[in-house]
Amino acid sequence: MSESIRILSRSELPAEGEAREAVCGNRVLCIAQVNGEIHAVDNACPHRGGPLGQGIVENGTVVCPWHAWAFDLKTGAAAHSPLARVAVYPVRVEGDDVLVQLG
Ligand code: FES
Repeated sequence: MSESIRILSRSELPAEGEAREAVCGNRVLCIAQVNGEIHAVDNACPHRGGPLGQGIVENGTVVCPWHAWAFDLKTGAAAHSPLARVAVYPVRVEGDDVLVQLG
């Protein structure tokens, strides 16, 4: 059974073309906004655990600030290898609340 958890208020969303970290229960997610669409992926980079939410957003990907692996914000797939990916979570906005559906 999946549950939706409020992760941010609308006013706390990253600006267009940017990402930020957001704590959600016992996890940290990377929240990014691209073309008005909100994306949520795991914050920990599968390479060495770099904080994706501190990375830059480029061409629909978030780029890890540590060694520049890039992950597609829609699919979670790494640009350089189909074997590396981050989990992607559905996001919806309800009123002032930004909700993420985990698991
Ligand atoms: S920790 Fe993210 S690219 Fe190395």
